[in-house]
Amino acid sequence: MTESCGILIKGGKVVNEDCSVISDVYIKNGKIISVGQNLQIPVGVRVIDATNKLVIPGGIDTHTHMELAFMGTKAVDDFHVGTKAALAGGTTMILDFVIPQKGRSLLDAYNSWREMADPKVCCDYSLHVAVTWWGDKVKKSIRKIKTFLGKRQLDGLITCFPFFLPCICPKWFYFQVKTEMETLAKEKGVNSFKMFMAYKDVFMLKDSELYAAFAWCKELGAVAQVHAENGDLIAEGARKMLSLGITGPEGHELCRPEEVEAEATQRAITIAHAVNCPLYVVHVMSKSAAKVVSNARRNGRVVFGEPIAAGLGTDGTNYWHKEWAHAAGFVMGPPLRPDPSTPGFLMDLLANDDLSVTGTDNCTFSVCQKALGKDDFTKIPNGVNGVEDRMSIIWEKGVHSGKMDENRFVAVTSSNAAKIFNFYPQKGRIAQNSDADVVIWDPKMKRSISAKTHHQAVDYNIFEGMECHGVPLITISRGKVVYDDGQLQVSPGHGTFIHRQPFSEFVYKRIKQRDQVNSTPCFLNS
Ligand code: URP
Ligand code: ZN
Ligand code: ZN
Ligand code: ZN
Repeated sequence: MTESCGILIKGGKVVNEDCSVISDVYIKNGKIISVGQNLQIPVGVRVIDATNKLVIPGGIDTHTHMELAFMGTKAVDDFHVGTKAALAGGTTMILDFVIPQKGRSLLDAYNSWREMADPKVCCDYSLHVAVTWWGDKVKKSIRKIKTFLGKRQLDGLITCFPFFLPCICPKWFYFQVKTEMETLAKEKGVNSFKMFMAYKDVFMLKDSELYAAFAWCKELGAVAQVHAENGDLIAEGARKMLSLGITGPEGHELCRPEEVEAEATQRAITIAHAVNCPLYVVHVMSKSAAKVVSNARRNGRVVFGEPIAAGLGTDGTNYWHKEWAHAAGFVMGPPLRPDPSTPGFLMDLLANDDLSVTGTDNCTFSVCQKALGKDDFTKIPNGVNGVEDRMSIIWEKGVHSGKMDENRFVAVTSSNAAKIFNFYPQKGRIAQNSDADVVIWDPKMKRSISAKTHHQAVDYNIFEGMECHGVPLITISRGKVVYDDGQLQVSPGHGTFIHRQPFSEFVYKRIKQRDQVNSTPCFLNS
């Protein structure tokens, strides 16, 4: 019995976002060949009995930062260990972020992320790209230069003189961002760009730059993503905390309370609406910000909110923990909120489609790395774990608690992500011709989360000791059993990069129609 002849998953309950049916699933050559009852399959096929188990699409984590160089250090989970841990937790695809330094070529950064990730990834992956610099005077100058030279000559010039041109004409910088976003969207499989409203002087864009960047995303058919926090207020708040002698991890939350996140969320939605651009708010961490997203959706805005495992599974009371290392382990931006009813509230909104998908913002730093901020919370590297535990946390807090059913679980852990980022039903669905990324899930089995047993490189776990119902028994990635009975069997490079086309129908159908019927553009849209 060998997997090269295929795999038959027998007698499980196949769960998609819209229905659950007892079916067999036959897999071969990395694809789902058929789904149905009592499938007749060739001899030699490996048969897996899934009676009383669920057969679900592999999880898609919309937000990770493997081996990210950040705040003077580098995240310890790299693309190898991080994606292996993902598989152990039932996640078969991650979307990571390319984050170029201000002024650095987006394409160069994209290429270096590909070089870093391609040989290491154990599951499939794709890349969002952060736009960390911009200029609002670009549009006209680009058009002029383009008409004068033609696109090809222009691309040639940029390739030949990447440093010289920006020196003689600063507008080239901005021009470069725009053309590079275009190349990324049209040729490199990127259909989502993240803009930061925080990390002042590092990654932050101002409002006029957000406006231009969103408008350009819209022209390219990309999803504009925002890290929504008011970076100016955070800078002022942090200064104030330190001057008051508050240097510990609690200062991280105190200097950026909920309204700092909610205000930026509302501002981003307003700016995106002004250019009829779809907006995706990453890591929605507070009740206030989640309400803003929810209200916007009810007002007809094309906006999606992404809570993360940390925000759904734990809370910001940890910043006041008596052990410094424990408290610092939870530091991330935006912070977890000290209101202990926050995780339940976010889960309710996720269950009711006010929030749409789940990621983790997995960006892990060891206890030792966190100690860079021992005397100053602003120096604690921001980031938490989650890539391995997201599926179990959502099952426990969402499905086991009775807030959502198994179909909504699939929607928020895979299908909605695949729809928004335009690779549905290639992934996010158990159906004929879909990729064979499949998890056999035991909804009744329990496991206890611990850094002692997790597969991540980081030396602590923010969910330490948490008991979760919902355990992945077997994970199949690209048609191969890579995790079975607690054992991982996968090599670096097993995963592959997933190209994503622009103009996802799920996102852009409404946007395009609005453009068509609103022939008199909104006053902000001129
Ligand atoms: O604390 C966080 N979130 N670290 C990663 C960078 C980001 O803003 O997503
Ligand atoms: Zn962020
Ligand atoms: Zn502790
Ligand atoms: Zn992030």
